[in-house]
Amino acid sequence: MALYELVNKGPIERVFGAVKAGKESRIYWAEGKGGEELAVKIFLTSSMEFKSSMRQYIQGDPRFKIGKDYRQIVYTWARKEFRNLEEARGAGVDVPRPIAVNQNIVVMEFIGENGVPAPLLKQLPPGDFDRGLFLEVMAAMKRLYRRAGLVHSDLSEYNIMVWGSRLCLIDFGQAVSVRHPMAEGFLRRDVGNLIRFFKKMGVDTGSEEEAISWLKTE
Ligand SMILES: Nc1ncnc2c1ncn2[C@@H]1O[C@H](COP(=O)(O)OP(=O)(O)OP(=O)(O)O)[C@@H](O)[C@H]1O
Ligand SMILES: [Mg+2]
Repeated sequence: MALYELVNKGPIERVFGAVKAGKESRIYWAEGKGGEELAVKIFLTSSMEFKSSMRQYIQGDPRFKIGKDYRQIVYTWARKEFRNLEEARGAGVDVPRPIAVNQNIVVMEFIGENGVPAPLLKQLPPGDFDRGLFLEVMAAMKRLYRRAGLVHSDLSEYNIMVWGSRLCLIDFGQAVSVRHPMAEGFLRRDVGNLIRFFKKMGVDTGSEEEAISWLKTE
């Protein structure tokens, strides 16, 4: 079993409870061999809905090939999340530090403390939102796009964690190379999501067009 191997021969000392159970994955709080906190993301190999949506984010990305059966597709998905985290981090984007991947499991740095995950952007008090915070999010997207050559493709107030001064982007399974034929559309959707959210929080964001041309220029 994949988890057993990660405990036996890998970086995990012990696994505590689930932090979050979604439709497609569960996140567990765990302890590493050095006593550090870990997040263990286990993709469920049984979600049918997930299966059809995963394909479009794998096909078209020159880094990956679509697997033949469902299990292989989920494994590719886990490897893709891991590699996206590595590439993002290598480009200086703040993401959880990727630690290991095995079959349908990704092990990464835990963002938060004592098993309590850091709040999502969505959960911050309304008074915390200003143009400065918006520009920080845009700067992270720009670095991801220009330096890492990736588009997150599921970016919103639900996939950004705020931990002290850190703005940490998470949930990178569907992130694609800028060479993916639909990368442009995914980028627009991400920017649109964030502008909509920040506008709702009363922030002067400027237009979507302005944001996109800024993201693309040096
Ligand atoms: N590295 C991490 N450290 C701490 N908590 C995390 C970490 N990664 C994810 N989480 C928590 O788990 C939740 C789900 O993680 P993620 O967004 O990666 O999965 P998901 O597939 O979107 O799950 P969902 O089905 O809920 O949409 C996050 O909202 C966050 O609260
Ligand atoms: Mg998510």
